[in-house]
Amino acid sequence: MKVDGQNIRPIWLDSDLKKVKVIDQRLLPHEFLVADLKTVDDVIRAIKEMVVRGAPLIGVTAAYGVYLAALNSPTDPVEDAYLIEECIRLKSARPTAVNLAWAVDEILSEMLKVGDASEKVDAARKEAEKIAEAEAENCRRIGAHGFSLIDKISRSKKGKTVNLLTHCNAGWLACIEYGTATAPIYAAFDNGIDIHVWVDETRPLNQGARLTAWELGKYGIKHTIITDNAGGHLMQHDMVDMVIVGTDRTTFTGDVANKIGTYLKALAAKDNNIPFYVALPSSTFDWKLRDGVRDIPIETRNPDEVRYVQGLDRGDIRHVLITPADSPAQNFAFDVTPSRLITGFITERGVCRASEKEILRLFPEKKKS
Ligand code: MRU
Repeated sequence: MKVDGQNIRPIWLDSDLKKVKVIDQRLLPHEFLVADLKTVDDVIRAIKEMVVRGAPLIGVTAAYGVYLAALNSPTDPVEDAYLIEECIRLKSARPTAVNLAWAVDEILSEMLKVGDASEKVDAARKEAEKIAEAEAENCRRIGAHGFSLIDKISRSKKGKTVNLLTHCNAGWLACIEYGTATAPIYAAFDNGIDIHVWVDETRPLNQGARLTAWELGKYGIKHTIITDNAGGHLMQHDMVDMVIVGTDRTTFTGDVANKIGTYLKALAAKDNNIPFYVALPSSTFDWKLRDGVRDIPIETRNPDEVRYVQGLDRGDIRHVLITPADSPAQNFAFDVTPSRLITGFITERGVCRASEKEILRLFPEKKKS
């Protein structure tokens, strides 16, 4: 995506083919820093500490992690047993986004097929690049399919501003290009639709206030940051026409894990008869899990992310304590919105209702015989 006139992605392979470059998302919007990942340990740390984040980007970063594993192999040629061990380590970096395991398994299975061990490094690089390009294209298509939904609302409002609400950051920073939830928003804006986005701040790490607001601002899209608890009030007062969010893992039956607080937005949307859409590429479907509330693993993170807030103070990024020093806190990173609260999914293959039948209609190859 273009930032200040320059095309940029959140991840790319350096021209020396030895390091992976990523935008350090912990520092945005105050500082734009590019970090180098040179080893599998660097990649695991970057995913855990959320230098990179967002389901599709976690997957692509891990895919490059497999490439780095092959590149830095202690043996020449690369041995399969070593690769498998490194893949297990990569997959354990964060538990909820299914894209992580999906991308690692995709690349590993391609590498295991390569008979000549000396060609494995090349094969890994090509596969990681292929996954990155495919995710960018998926998001472009999600934008095209989601556009028609926004266009319909705009027509029914006779061109008056369409107000969208989103939670967390499911933008290009979390993907490769366009984003998932934001792809239809960019497409609508590019097609001249008058839109405005309510951006949930998304405590505790403020991915909405920091990242989504930054992305939309750089693109010139009208937006307003709101507290996480404001959405219900706005919905009761006809100030939201549609909610679009991303997801970290969606069961093939339509239950959606996404950033903590998404479930409450879906409840409020249902109560106010407001369409609630989830945008996702096929890499975010979990084709094995049936019951999302019961079975999707929910990450719990360091309570200090709740107890402290990061911000800019006289030019320096600082963390400040906002709770009593000895009060305990808990940090549930995701929740699950059951399919019954979801109006539909926007995927690279089109829009469908949130049911097993409809999902499998779009992805018939996933039907179990
Ligand atoms: O903890 P994060 O910032 O990785 O959580 C990200 C989200 O919840 C996103 O909405 C989700 O990964 C979809 S990104 C297209």
